[in-house]
This record gives sequence, structure tokens and C-alpha cells, in this order.
Amino acid sequence: MTRTRRTHTRWWSAAGTLAAAALATVAITTPAGAGTAADEPAAAPISTRIVGGEYASTSEYPWVVYLTDSAGNQFCGGTIAAANKVITAAHCVTGGAPPEITVVSGRDDKNSDEGTETAVRDVWVHPDFQNASSGADVAVLTLDRDVTATPLPIATAGDLPEYRPGGATTVLGWGTTTEGGSPSSTLRQAHPPITSDQDCSRAYGGQYDPRGQVCAGLPGGGEDSCQGDSGGPLVAGDKLIGIVSWGNGCARPGQPGVYTRLGAYHDEVQAQLR
Ligand code: ARG
Repeated sequence: MTRTRRTHTRWWSAAGTLAAAALATVAITTPAGAGTAADEPAAAPISTRIVGGEYASTSEYPWVVYLTDSAGNQFCGGTIAAANKVITAAHCVTGGAPPEITVVSGRDDKNSDEGTETAVRDVWVHPDFQNASSGADVAVLTLDRDVTATPLPIATAGDLPEYRPGGATTVLGWGTTTEGGSPSSTLRQAHPPITSDQDCSRAYGGQYDPRGQVCAGLPGGGEDSCQGDSGGPLVAGDKLIGIVSWGNGCARPGQPGVYTRLGAYHDEVQAQLR
């Protein structure tokens, strides 16, 4: 199903700037005192929370982008998968999505004006998408014009090593650096290992469907994506293996982040990249 951004105006208009503010809070939770993210007051100085957290740069990860509304507020992440195509989460562009979405590439710091802003011309949402926890949380944005950044290849269903439990990943975003905290102004990365299907089912029961989702997180928590990182890339083996989708809080022990398992949707997504 192809939806244009015009179909997404309803909730957005109703909720107005409140929604913008809520969506604008973002980011990568970093392994500060593993497992304590949920217990820290939101007012704790961020500098005490990003021990072990890492700054990242779009010069190293040229395909990572963020999405802004018409007021310039960042509300989600995304990945350049072809010269004029960005993969993001369906929940970023449905329901309360801003009517006008701009893709920002090559800008590490949201407060700078480096990089490129590109308008979104069309939005494809996976036809099975209902809400993040029921899966198919994937969308493809078509840009107004090509961007020069190198695209990231997407995983196929056969890329089993990349989904092996314990395997290394990189997740990137501009989201909140603690659960309930403030968004990051700069791009950050975390490296939560892949969680086994068994452990993720133990955490989330029937809400987790390994056919279309994959989880990542340390058993003790402490390293995770968080609000505002949605839509952004989970990378392994130099491929896009997942899309930031949901989780119970952020970086809590035994509550890994849940990602769209991109390999499961490879053929449908790849068909949108042409
Ligand atoms: N739904 C969030 C967003 O829209 C992403 C949450 C990811 N949570 C997690 N614990 N990994 O930004």
C-alpha cells in the first residue's frame, strides 16, 4: 500500500506541538551504570549518564539520517538504502506523523546546519502494519531528489550469522540518552548484542514475534535505543538488520530493545528501493 503524507494529518493536527515535543524527545541510551537507567531521575545531569556511551559521526555512518517535522523538530531516525530511498519505522510515519517530513543527512549535531535537508515525496508503509508490537514496523520514504550519501545494504532472510544471539550490533540515533530523559543533540551509538528469541519471548511473551522482530540488549541492561531513535538502524555485518521499534522502557535489565527483523521483509522492502 502506498500512502502519501497527506493521509497522516489527522492525529498530528489534533495533537499539535505537544506531539511534536513528545516525538522530538529521543535517543541512544548509553551504558551508564548498567541497568540503572529506569531508576535515575530524569533530571540527572546527562554527563553522569553517558559513561561508556559513544558519540558517533555521519562521516563514519553516512547512511544514518533523522526525520524532522515542518518546524524542524527531530522525531525519528532512518537509513538511506538507495539514492532517493530511506527506510524507517512504519510507526514513525503513520498515526501521529507530521504531515510534512524532511530527511536530514550528514548532520551530526541537530543544532548545526551541516549536511543536507531533503523533502519526502512519497511514503510506503508495509501493508501488514498495525502497531509497533504487532510487527511489520517498516516504511520506505521516497525523497524529492537523490542524496550523495552511500546507501547501506539491507539484510536478507539468509543472513543468519548477523542474527545469531550474542552477535555484535551497532544502533544509531539522536534519541533520549536515558529513559524519560532529554534527547541528544548529537548522533550517538550503542552496541547491544543480539538477544535470543527465547530470552526475548521470556521478556515480552506473545508481544514478541521472532518471525518479524529481533531483540538486542545486554542481559543486565544499560545499553539500548530509546525514545526518538525509532526508525533508525540496527546494523551488523555492514548491513541493515533491524529498525528501532519498541521496548519496555529503555536499557532495563531483562527488557531488550525490539527491532523490526529486516531480513524477514527483505523482498518487499527491496521492491520499494527501485
Ligand atoms: N518507540 C520508540 C520511538 O518511537 C523507540 C523505543 C525503543 N525502545 C527501546 N527500549 N529500545 O522512538
